[in-house]
Amino acid sequence: MLPDEFIREIERIVGAIGIVRDAERMQSYLSDWRNAYRGDAALVIRPASTEEVASVVRLCNQYQVTLVPQGGNTGLCGGSIPDASGTQVVLSLTRMTRIREVDPANETITVEAGVILQTLQEAAAEAGRLFPLALGAQGSCTVGGNLATNAGGTAVLRYGNMRDLALGLEVVLPDGRIWNGLRGLRKDNTGYDLKQLFIGSEGTLGVITAAVLKLYPAVRSTTTAWVALPSAQAAVELIGVIRELCGDRLTGFELMSRQSVEFVLSHVAGCSDPFAEPHPWYVLIELSDTQPDAPLNQLLEVGIGEALERELAIDAVLAGSEAQVAALWAMREGISEAQNHEGPSLKHDISVPVSSIPAFIEATNQRLIEQFPGVRIVAYGHVGDGNLHYNISKPIGCQDAVFKAHQEAIMRVIYDVTMSLRGSISAEHGLGQAKRDAAKHYKDPLELELMRALKATFDPKGLMNPGKVL
Ligand code: FAD
Ligand code: MLT
Ligand code: ZN
Repeated sequence: MLPDEFIREIERIVGAIGIVRDAERMQSYLSDWRNAYRGDAALVIRPASTEEVASVVRLCNQYQVTLVPQGGNTGLCGGSIPDASGTQVVLSLTRMTRIREVDPANETITVEAGVILQTLQEAAAEAGRLFPLALGAQGSCTVGGNLATNAGGTAVLRYGNMRDLALGLEVVLPDGRIWNGLRGLRKDNTGYDLKQLFIGSEGTLGVITAAVLKLYPAVRSTTTAWVALPSAQAAVELIGVIRELCGDRLTGFELMSRQSVEFVLSHVAGCSDPFAEPHPWYVLIELSDTQPDAPLNQLLEVGIGEALERELAIDAVLAGSEAQVAALWAMREGISEAQNHEGPSLKHDISVPVSSIPAFIEATNQRLIEQFPGVRIVAYGHVGDGNLHYNISKPIGCQDAVFKAHQEAIMRVIYDVTMSLRGSISAEHGLGQAKRDAAKHYKDPLELELMRALKATFDPKGLMNPGKVL
């Protein structure tokens, strides 16, 4: 139970509009999109400015109340969900939605943490620029969440992840002090790069309240193709062909297994198979250019022609209209939702060197099928980054509880192969609560020791998102 005087003081800081106490209204803050994680909270606080965040955090520090920062609550590792104790406070940044500044000459935009990613993309477009981070949850995830998880998505192979897109941050530290690091500099060698510590820290070191982000020239032509492949090995070779031919014009290269596409075809309204025959693998390729009418179709046709000749591709279609482009991306982006319809799924977002993707798939598929007959492997993802979503759905007819009992063992198989290939157990989603224990097992003990030392320095009382990451 929180003391009455604490609640009164919070209400004085954020006003009645900034507090949610009603059990029913609190529900959407207490579980995630998949309903895979559920917690409880004493209060949801929704400050509207950096000063309000700082006052709230200072008060929490004084009363030793633990805080769970939350943005759009689209994270996939339970990082934004409070524990079950009912004593934690959810700090929602969703009222901090100001675009503070657009500086076209510096190619930067300064935004508050609660700005929705899609709103940011639109603001950049209005200024004749591109903000390139793109992911399935862009209509609801926030910049603060993107930074706190170092989000990746479908354009990383060209523009990098959130770590690469941030130039400066404003952060409220766990004691309530405000660090104003909102510098729009591409070069700054004055010691440790502190912003990089907060990026990817999943709310465990401080509350990100605003950021200066990089903008890029607007894209004025794109071409999109859906290509059927005989194997994952062919995808790795094909990306080499297309990259050599198109250089930085390659902005998307998404791999999907047949199982992934079948789930989409069964569950996502309006999707249809571009080919008459099923094929083992597919890639969605996107080329873009800043010039209008760039000859991207011809370029991609040359690449695909070579792939067909070398038997790296079986068949291909080029989107002929905006509607077809949208339909192809809907197939790719629909996989997460489609898999939800098949019961509980075990999500993994591993990375290995791009060249090791085929070896990873072959070794993991073989071990899983042997040890857990009937499991359905939904492998897809950002293959150009060496990042696979190697998600597992239960065997048809299997009880949810029986499947969940195997979760740990399935995860071990996947992560053991990942680590044997010098990979990472999380490429883009983070650790949250889902992979915290696995990180303890798989990460270098020295790295963990240094991470704990950083945590103790920034947050000696352990008030910021305890139980996540470490
Ligand atoms: P939340 O879920 O609210 O929070 C995520 C973490 O960040 C939590 O630990 C939280 O405590 C912390 N946090 C949030 N805001 C702040 C803040 N202001 N200060 C400090 N800490 C904070 N992710 C990818 O990387 N690539 C993808 O391709 C991708 N695709 C997705 C597709 C779908 C359909 C869905 C549902 C999710 C996808 N995600 C993807 C995961 C998710 O959308 C991203 O991780 C996103 O960046 C989370 O943003 P959010 O605002 O929802 O954060
Ligand atoms: C995606 O790329 O679609 C997401 O990051 C993966 C997921 O939802 O598992
Ligand atoms: Zn992804």
